[in-house]
Amino acid sequence: AKPVIVAIDGPSGTGKSSTSKAVAAQLGLSYLDTGAQYRAITWWMVHNGIDLEDPTAIAAVAGKPEIVSGTDPDKPTITVDGVDVSGPIRTQEVTSKVSAVSAVPEVRSRITELQRSIAAGAEDGIVVEGRDIGTTVLPDADLKIFLTASPEARAARRSGELKGADIHATREALIKRDAADSSRKTSPLAKAGDAVEVDTTELTLAQVIECVVTLVEEKR
Ligand code: C5P
Repeated sequence: AKPVIVAIDGPSGTGKSSTSKAVAAQLGLSYLDTGAQYRAITWWMVHNGIDLEDPTAIAAVAGKPEIVSGTDPDKPTITVDGVDVSGPIRTQEVTSKVSAVSAVPEVRSRITELQRSIAAGAEDGIVVEGRDIGTTVLPDADLKIFLTASPEARAARRSGELKGADIHATREALIKRDAADSSRKTSPLAKAGDAVEVDTTELTLAQVIECVVTLVEEKR
């Protein structure tokens, strides 16, 4: 089979990560979680006391941390300057601050470059998940998927993951982050014109995976 490049975009809580990992594992493709990269650079900025209300301060150090992503869908890894940050990047603090960092053009251009080189190096093909993969990072992807779900379904899934988190607070935080990601000037969260939209509200994870696997197989 020829290497296939799959872009999976959408807001949080649509099942993007679970779907992307499972599809990559099932089809023997590499996997890249681009949200983890933005979280990792945000973690580094918090760790180093950068003022995240100041985009100029963020831009000035955007190139500093070395971010390395493992692309095995069965055990995705991410390090910053050699430190494994898989755990720390999932904290509430990083989640609430990542949109301010990811909106800075200097951050986006360097992370985008990293993403393109990882995709180009994936010999058997890759599933890349994020917000702007189909529109900006890999506009020539073989297949573009845009996952959606109702805010209620997304909040329910997220609070399930966070084990007992308040569903209303989760819903508000999620809506706020999506609004920030969708309204930023540089490569906002958006559906590419040639993306296939899959509404996952009424689907099980297994059904979404099956749907995407079928679409990828049609491209191979
Ligand atoms: O997918 P995840 O929730 O881990 O993404 C975290 C954040 O990273 C998003 O809220 C967004 O601000 C940023 N992001 C982005 N572009 C991507 C992927 C993620 O701006 N391609």
